[in-house]
Amino acid sequence: MNRILVTGGAGFIGSNFVRYLLNNDSGCCIVNLDSLTYAGNPLSLSDCEQEGRYSFVHGDILDRALLERLFDEFAFTGVIHFAAESHVDRSILGPEAFIDTNIKGTFNLVDVACNHWKKNPEFCRFHHISTDEVYGSLGETGAFSETTPYDPSSPYSASKASSDHLVKAYNRTYGLPSVITNCSNNYGPYQFPEKLIPLMILNIMEKKALPVYGRGENIRDWLYVEDHCSAIWKVFCDGKDGETYNVGGGAERKNIEIVHFLCDLVDQKLGHTGGSSSRELIEYVQDRPGHDFRYAIDASKLKNDLGWEPAFTFEEALEETVDWYLANMEWVNNVRSGAYRDWIDTNYAKR
Ligand code: NAD
Ligand code: TYD
Repeated sequence: MNRILVTGGAGFIGSNFVRYLLNNDSGCCIVNLDSLTYAGNPLSLSDCEQEGRYSFVHGDILDRALLERLFDEFAFTGVIHFAAESHVDRSILGPEAFIDTNIKGTFNLVDVACNHWKKNPEFCRFHHISTDEVYGSLGETGAFSETTPYDPSSPYSASKASSDHLVKAYNRTYGLPSVITNCSNNYGPYQFPEKLIPLMILNIMEKKALPVYGRGENIRDWLYVEDHCSAIWKVFCDGKDGETYNVGGGAERKNIEIVHFLCDLVDQKLGHTGGSSSRELIEYVQDRPGHDFRYAIDASKLKNDLGWEPAFTFEEALEETVDWYLANMEWVNNVRSGAYRDWIDTNYAKR
């Protein structure tokens, strides 16, 4: 039985991953360690709480003593590390939390995991989840490969770059069995409504302004979260120690194309009629400082070495995502409400 520590499993990608793993591999049990920041919601895994192979620990990766206790108690055979501060705009307004969690937190985790691995040969893998934003910005052509030099633009991507280097250093210096995946922008269910796609879906539903940075010409390479989960599990199981794998969905779109698509789709689903279109809600606002122009992933290493390819097409999976938000407004309202934060504090005592 694989005993896996998932960090940040109450967040967007982590919660999708925990569900994916419970549904796709019966040989795993999971401990989800999450400090439940604004972006972490136990509700995102309420359907998994009764599953005997899953347990939740409310705690912080900055708490080294807690990490040591958990490794002793559960004798983990692997770690999949999602926990992070993840939003670029927040990193511009307040970088310190990004330094704390993404750099110091990752250092704690990789160091405790390394000490554990030295005493427990059963420990087989530290998998660090990272971003393509570490590579900086592309012009009109080209794509990031695993050998593209790091050139981060935001405090967020700089902190992720730093954490990648730490994980790599632990592999080279101490031999810790580790892998890193750097993926492009994810979308899908349970994403906190501050990132482009869920923010736009909800603002269209609620007839609020749709803030598009600059001229909306920036390009992202979109990856459906379920495709990301299958890639992570493939790399965790079959990837080579010390290697990095880029994960991408092969779906480059300009931001404005996505906003137009969502306006038309949500209007159609909600039966918004009368000649007006939600496109009229678009407001071109001041650009993000240091805004990377374009991201694109060359995922050929993952395809050639491990046989992984995305299974979902962008427009279909985006429509599924829209349907999910339309059907899950209770989740949305809870994660946005202050009262809900009080409920978490009462019901999920911190370890
Ligand atoms: P998220 O913000 O939705 O979730 C992060 C989770 O980490 C939350 O549940 C939060 O409570 C938890 N957390 C934060 N600080 C913590 C701490 N100190 N201790 C314990 N838990 C803590 O993020 P996400 O979008 O799910 O991203 C997950 C990972 O994937 C991150 O490492 C991120 O850098 C990376 N990533 C995300 C994207 C994307 O498009 N969302 C793209 C590339 C890479
Ligand atoms: P975001 O979802 O924040 O992800 P990232 O910054 O990690 O790529 O933003 C995706 C793109 O959408 C990015 O180019 C910034 C842009 N954007 C807007 O135009 N308006 C918004 O309100 C947000 C949140 C993002």
